[in-house]
Amino acid sequence: MAATDVLDQLKQFEEQYIPFPTFVAAKDAIESSLSLFRETGLAKHMLVLGEAGTGKSSLCRWLAERHPKRVLPERNIVEALFVATPPAATVIGIADAILTALGDPWHERGSVTAKTARIVTLCRECRVEIMLLDEAQHLHDRGDTRTHYMVGDWLKHLIDAIGIPTVMLGLPRLERLLEINDQLRRRFSRRLRLGLGQSDTDSVETECLQLFLSLVSLVSVPVSSRPYDSKEMGMRLYFASDGRVAYIKKLLASALQQALDQNLDVVDAEVFERAFTDELWWEGIGKLNPFNPKFEFRRLDRGGEPFQQAEEGRPRKAR
Ligand SMILES: Nc1ncnc2c1ncn2[C@@H]1O[C@H](COP(=O)(O)OP(=O)(O)OP(=O)(O)O)[C@@H](O)[C@H]1O
Ligand SMILES: [Mg+2]
Repeated sequence: MAATDVLDQLKQFEEQYIPFPTFVAAKDAIESSLSLFRETGLAKHMLVLGEAGTGKSSLCRWLAERHPKRVLPERNIVEALFVATPPAATVIGIADAILTALGDPWHERGSVTAKTARIVTLCRECRVEIMLLDEAQHLHDRGDTRTHYMVGDWLKHLIDAIGIPTVMLGLPRLERLLEINDQLRRRFSRRLRLGLGQSDTDSVETECLQLFLSLVSLVSVPVSSRPYDSKEMGMRLYFASDGRVAYIKKLLASALQQALDQNLDVVDAEVFERAFTDELWWEGIGKLNPFNPKFEFRRLDRGGEPFQQAEEGRPRKAR
């Protein structure tokens, strides 16, 4: 296949959304919260939690595409307000980020009280109907229990004042912010998890395989699970990706690149074995490589392994 074709496919493959079950569940929950607000004025808030690479920011982008900002002569209409929480966010820092997202040219000016009041006014003027705070774990990554309590208290005050549904998306440690503040916890009692492995009907291996096959369908290079059967390939994909869409995509993109560079007729488990070492973990060799016949079939989450749990405030990522 011509290099340009494969590169075009890789680009399309990178941009395409795959409706995997937890992504769809989160998107539907957010859309129905928006509809409920439109119909009744009730604001239901929720948390969307997921490890790095499970699709939180992609979900925000998907919603942004469905609800684009409209610039009218007299005002901007911002149905869905997206805010990327700045690292180690202080109350004034997050207020600033919200004002920036609202298009306030004077977002840096004023005290916390003045900024909060401007957020409330602008949300009303721009007819904001839902607010999404991505990377919300940053609200927890700075200070001690007292600071966390104060950030939580300010947020509670803000969401009551703006009166619209609010979605916080972040790494699982975001839950700790809510443990400290009862009032905030009560408002965010609805929690959804991105990442595979939540289904009551399908095993995580089946979910991984389905996501993988959906991605494979976007490219025209033949892909085979050989020498494994499809069930075993699903299991190996799960251990290689920890059930996160980002890593399944990385593996496939690297395997396709190899197919192109080496003129391979088919992408099989041996190609994925090299892709895992090249892209996800350079120490993932032999029994530590999920596509190697000697693989131990266990999660790679011990010290120094790619899916080791992140330390407080310091996310660890596979490459
Ligand atoms: N529904 C989807 N369909 C296809 N690809 C997706 C989907 N969701 C996420 N991805 C891909 O997975 C990768 C990581 O996604 P994203 O940045 O949204 O994860 P994240 O949860 O925000 O990660 P982080 O915690 O590191 O910010 C991206 O390459 C993105 O294209
Ligand atoms: Mg993100």
